[in-house]
Amino acid sequence: MSEPVVSAEAEQEDLDTEATLRPRRLSEFIGQARVREQLELVLEGARRRGDPPDHVLLSGPPGLGKTSLAMIIATELGAALRITSGPALERAGDLAAMLSNLMPGDVLFIDEIHRIARPAEEMLYLAMEDFRVDVVVGKGPGATSIPLDIAPFTLVGATTRAGALTGPLRDRFGFTAHMEFYEAAELDRVLRRAAVILDVDLRPDGAEEIAGRSRGTPRIANRLLRRVRDYAEVRADGAVTREVARAALKVYDVDELGLDRLDRAVLTALVRSFRGGPVGVSTLAVAVGEEPATVEEVCEPFLVRAGMLARTPRGRVATIGAWRHLGLEPPPNAVGEQGEPPPVLFGL
Ligand SMILES: Nc1ncnc2c1ncn2[C@@H]1O[C@H](COP(=O)(O)OP(=O)(O)O)[C@@H](O)[C@H]1O
Ligand SMILES: [Mg+2]
Repeated sequence: MSEPVVSAEAEQEDLDTEATLRPRRLSEFIGQARVREQLELVLEGARRRGDPPDHVLLSGPPGLGKTSLAMIIATELGAALRITSGPALERAGDLAAMLSNLMPGDVLFIDEIHRIARPAEEMLYLAMEDFRVDVVVGKGPGATSIPLDIAPFTLVGATTRAGALTGPLRDRFGFTAHMEFYEAAELDRVLRRAAVILDVDLRPDGAEEIAGRSRGTPRIANRLLRRVRDYAEVRADGAVTREVARAALKVYDVDELGLDRLDRAVLTALVRSFRGGPVGVSTLAVAVGEEPATVEEVCEPFLVRAGMLARTPRGRVATIGAWRHLGLEPPPNAVGEQGEPPPVLFGL
């Protein structure tokens, strides 16, 4: 396993500040203009009809605001929020208890919904569609199932892997929001907002520098801001300028593109050990000592978006950009940003 970049203590501090920095209303939620507009319509339509809105699925890489949006949905509806997660719903009974305790109009948030156990998932189908659960009483041949009405509610599911959801579950969501990586200008706004809340002396050039290295991810932007602030307070006069941000991010191993140690480990393995690929994701994960799911859900989406890695039917391949980013000469057969084959040179 690669060394953790931050200590457990810093991680707890992260969780605490994350709660302080969470946007509370849709109007405070920066970026994701499309998702926000769509969601506004879904919520307003439901409000006018006086019904709970359709079930909502939020999909996208970690740190883009899925949990924040789930909380915002409940707030905007003036509804109570119940929170659970796929891994916590191992037994259908746990879900049945949760569902039968819902009050009309409640929002039930299931994080990492792709990891829900099969029996719980099947129970969810009926609950989502008919607001009903079948409670099984007894065991073996004498077991009977008793249908039980539950309150009309809205399910909000979040997933880093929409593709891992079964078709029937996916189909039961009336609205799916695909969260995109944030543009630098949006991250700039995220940072300014956080700086006000955390009382950091963030200068415009400092914000720009951090925004450009945040992997398109608000959670990372906020985390880097706190690390840079530490540096600014200990080694400088407290002001976060471009100079200070650069020096601090060097200490924390964040490169100009925002790639962190794991991102670079993946690219380096791909290029050095597998000559640029193609290679399967599990093999690649073993090479960097990580879980395949982490490589697939945390690293890859950003590497793909940064034009460094392409997913092809035969496996992962490093693009020309990846070779260059690592300071290496790309081989003649290296693919372009989209994984397109190298240009055929005239006369060859
Ligand atoms: N659109 C946004 N505007 C402002 N801050 C955001 C936004 N999205 C995320 N954040 C920040 O990033 C942190 C992580 O977001 P979160 O909702 O937990 O992401 P996810 O659930 O997708 O992993 C939040 O605590 C918040 O500080
Ligand atoms: Mg979350």
